[in-house]
Amino acid sequence: SQSSVALTPPMGWNSWNLFEEDVSDKLIREIADALVSSGMSRAGYQYIVIDDFWVGGRNASNELFPDPIRFPHGIKALADYVHSKGLKLGIYSDAAALTCGGVTGSYNFEERDATTFANWGIDYLKYDYCNAPGDMVTAFTRYKKMGDALRSTGRLIVYSICEWGQRQPWLWARAAGGHLWRTTWDMRDTWLSDRYDNGHNGIMNTIEKQKGLEKYAGPGGWNDPDLLVTGLSGKGKSSSLNGRFTGCSLTEYRSQFAVWCMLASPLMVNLDVRRMDTAVKAILLNKELIAIDQDVLGSQASVVIDANGWLVFKKELSNDRYAICVLNRQNVSAYFSFNLESALKMHGRWNAQEIFTNRRLRGVKTFTGELTAHDCVIYVLSAMNSLTK
Ligand code: DGJ
Repeated sequence: SQSSVALTPPMGWNSWNLFEEDVSDKLIREIADALVSSGMSRAGYQYIVIDDFWVGGRNASNELFPDPIRFPHGIKALADYVHSKGLKLGIYSDAAALTCGGVTGSYNFEERDATTFANWGIDYLKYDYCNAPGDMVTAFTRYKKMGDALRSTGRLIVYSICEWGQRQPWLWARAAGGHLWRTTWDMRDTWLSDRYDNGHNGIMNTIEKQKGLEKYAGPGGWNDPDLLVTGLSGKGKSSSLNGRFTGCSLTEYRSQFAVWCMLASPLMVNLDVRRMDTAVKAILLNKELIAIDQDVLGSQASVVIDANGWLVFKKELSNDRYAICVLNRQNVSAYFSFNLESALKMHGRWNAQEIFTNRRLRGVKTFTGELTAHDCVIYVLSAMNSLTK
């Protein structure tokens, strides 16, 4: 059933920022090849999602067809190719007559389109909300219509609800059949935007807006704070807001990735995986961080400290472990020190593994360290058992 997908946050690649309206069969095949040859697919990046602008229109029998120039071989052949690489294919539509990009959407053709997607071998649908009415009841109704339609195809299709967190989707998206739902507006390729409004969400703006949503996430249903700008370096069309944002530092990209893993977020990259530099690749392939994101408990970190320029996140992991992330949001290097017992209410003695340095600490009660601007550190804690005490 649809309840056996997205038991951990979906991971993959989405076409939006890199290609926008230039998405094509050729590029998607190249991305599929690169996901395999780079080791990304083995690390868990499984879904390739074709975003807006793939649609050509509807034919005489009301069936969606792809743009014949961009996708000359049809979507079925492309899905077969993607599947032959051990990957899964995602596609995009909108709960209105037209998508954000102005091509044909699925409103009033939900069952028809869900059947078409299933026949093509689609494994994931991102369903957008441009050109649709603003109220929550209509949004729920329209999303549920597509959710039901996907379910009745009998194919396992991950359902990604993309109404940008404007109508509290965390309250109703699961009931509409959704496996993930955007909590916030599109992510931009910058650390902190000075304009704290929709359309100008940098990494820190977006993190702020996730606070308190942790109780809605869990196996089969995830808060989606949007894509990883990691490695885009200002090259994304939409994430750069057409050149307004020039990108982040490597430290900031690593911090986004680390915090996204703490938040049990879907890990959807947008960068050009055909030419990744080693440092960016090392971030995206960090096994320990991916394991934190993909932990079977499916618990999203909560912010346990937000004071004096420090953010501390705590995420429960399987096997009685916890991940603690300390993020320096200040624009300068600074020292931190906090006590597990008094600051985090974690009693007893803990063994810790420090991610990035791989340093192992035994019997720690207090964490201290120095972090440069916007850097973070993560500790994976396990209680010292009676034998090791
Ligand atoms: C708005 C969404 O939030 C983006 O992620 C992207 O799908 C665009 N629409 C496509 O037009």
